[in-house]
Amino acid sequence: MARLTGKTAIVTGAAQGIGAVYAKALAQEGAKVCLSDILDTAPAVDAIREAGGDVIGMETDVTDMDACEAMVAETVSAFGAADIMVTNAALFAALKRRSFLEIDGDEWDKVMSINTRGVFNCVKAAAPEMKKKGYGKIINISSSTIYSGVPLMLHYVASKGAVDAMTKALARELGGDGITVNTIAPGFTMSDQIEAQRDNLEFYVNLSLNSRAVKREQMPDDLLGALIFLASPESDFVTGQAIVVDGGMIMH
Ligand SMILES: NC(=O)c1ccc[n+]([C@@H]2O[C@H](COP(=O)([O-])OP(=O)(O)OC[C@H]3O[C@@H](n4cnc5c(N)ncnc54)[C@H](O)[C@@H]3O)[C@@H](O)[C@H]2O)c1
Repeated sequence: MARLTGKTAIVTGAAQGIGAVYAKALAQEGAKVCLSDILDTAPAVDAIREAGGDVIGMETDVTDMDACEAMVAETVSAFGAADIMVTNAALFAALKRRSFLEIDGDEWDKVMSINTRGVFNCVKAAAPEMKKKGYGKIINISSSTIYSGVPLMLHYVASKGAVDAMTKALARELGGDGITVNTIAPGFTMSDQIEAQRDNLEFYVNLSLNSRAVKREQMPDDLLGALIFLASPESDFVTGQAIVVDGGMIMH
């Protein structure tokens, strides 16, 4: 039987890239899924629906608290619950890789606002619904860059380090309500937009390939084992943890 039958999930940043792959996998495991993004989610929603998934899509900017609350309310209204929250939305593929000396304050604030405050907003919006049921799964998405100290994206690394720290503190605040909070830290993954920029990102492609234990490129599907485990009751006694999925580049 599918492992998430009867559960409802929200995936932010799910119009394309890894988020769309997460949403499809959650639906395949039987969850009803809300896909949200600042981009149009209709193509991703249609593809999952055609494959038999029970999904809705909506436009949500995770920096807007009211929009995050509306996303949760619409999900509850459509499906009756918001059991699983995957905080995947981030400014990542679109970021220009550059020295920290060339990152200005506005760009720093924008990255922190989406990647860190966006997670805060989504968790804050979903937690009350989870508390009502005495059960919930929050899966934050950080990055292996926080352990390896990858250069030329200091704001991004800082924003994801904050997500990792928030995961631990949130796990303690929400554990008494039956809510687990964990992080997936992906390695450099050939998502849609990264694949499209492969030629410009050769430095990162090679760095990852050369430093991994498993000698191949990482694909979005490589993240699904950890995702479904953290979304399912199998992980009910696992909280405040970061699972690094990167082919063994980081070992911690
Ligand atoms: N691809 C990788 O190598 C890699 C590695 C480590 C971590 N990650 C993380 O995994 C996640 C997905 O990665 P990806 O490669 O698919 O990234 P991506 O940049 O292609 O996708 C991010 C998605 O978030 C959406 N988004 C951006 N700002 C938003 C906002 N304000 N509100 C709502 N949605 C917004 C975008 O429209 C996009 O669909 C991100 O959190 C990323 O940081 C990716």
